[in-house]
Amino acid sequence: MKEQLEAIRKSAIEELEKAAALQDLDSVRIRFLGKKGELTAILKQMGRLTAEERPVIGQLANEIRADLEDRISEKVDAIKERMLEEKLREEKIDVTLPSGRVPLGHKHPLSIVLDEVKDIFFGMGFNVASGPEVEWDYYNFEALNIPKNHPARDTQDTFYITENMLLRTQTSPCQIRVMEKQAPPIRVIAPGRVYRSDAVDATHSPIFHQIEGLVVDKGITMADLKGCLEDFAKSLYGEDTKIRLRPHHFPFTEPSCEIDVSCFNCGGKGCPMCKGEGWIEILGGGMVHPKVLKNCGVDPDVYSGFAFGIGLERLVMFRFNIDDMRLLYENDVRFLNQF
Ligand code: DAH
Repeated sequence: MKEQLEAIRKSAIEELEKAAALQDLDSVRIRFLGKKGELTAILKQMGRLTAEERPVIGQLANEIRADLEDRISEKVDAIKERMLEEKLREEKIDVTLPSGRVPLGHKHPLSIVLDEVKDIFFGMGFNVASGPEVEWDYYNFEALNIPKNHPARDTQDTFYITENMLLRTQTSPCQIRVMEKQAPPIRVIAPGRVYRSDAVDATHSPIFHQIEGLVVDKGITMADLKGCLEDFAKSLYGEDTKIRLRPHHFPFTEPSCEIDVSCFNCGGKGCPMCKGEGWIEILGGGMVHPKVLKNCGVDPDVYSGFAFGIGLERLVMFRFNIDDMRLLYENDVRFLNQF
């Protein structure tokens, strides 16, 4: 029986050596150590042994079982380790390989010019203010000295939401919102989207952008307006740029003006870009109307201010020589890639 046991050990060890996968080890375990396994079968015949032989054989059988169990668990560890190594090798990432390129976008021409404009005004100590695009009639018109039935309303074809609420037609309501919240001195620009019920063509869009400006302090005069906007024009179009103020009318400024810059294409001689004029109109402005100051609780006997409004699309179109405003909104990358 001793020889039989040693023979089992030997052939189990041989089988273990051949085993390459975890399932192979399972079959070895079942075949030799299982309930119906070879070792168990031998032990069942112990009854035939003498009383002296029994403990000796029993001990040997236990020793062989323990030995085989150790060998199996060693082998299990070895196989698991090898599998892990293989997996790590297969999943290794080569970080030095060139990447698949992600096409990188860039700023829209409207944003390019708006950021330039912002930088220029930041340099002069302005902050940025904003207001809602869905606005009250009061802020968009009433407080800006454009009462109901005033003819100035007709020039701004308006998308009304209710009788008192609308899509703002201009960024000027930001003036009111700033003055209501903040006491002078005030120096802000308020860029944003505005809406008018206009048909789309090369120079019109129902949605466009304005940049509002507002300065309120003690002793502000028309000279400050002129100096500030001349600096702005020179920064945007170059040191040689001149500006000219033409009298105009806006209900919320008094006096009011439109401001032209000398044509940056021909320097003022006259060319197709300025339609032979030598000048290009870029903004409207004026001294904040005393009534508007009063509407916001600012005492016009103590404070004065100037305001201006710039059409962003016009700046962009002149800047990049774009002849159709629709191109700015169509998001055609063949167009946008050029800037
Ligand atoms: N809000 C005016 C418009 O949309 C532009 C404008 C003109 C704004 C003069 C101003 C200003 O602040 O002083 O036509």
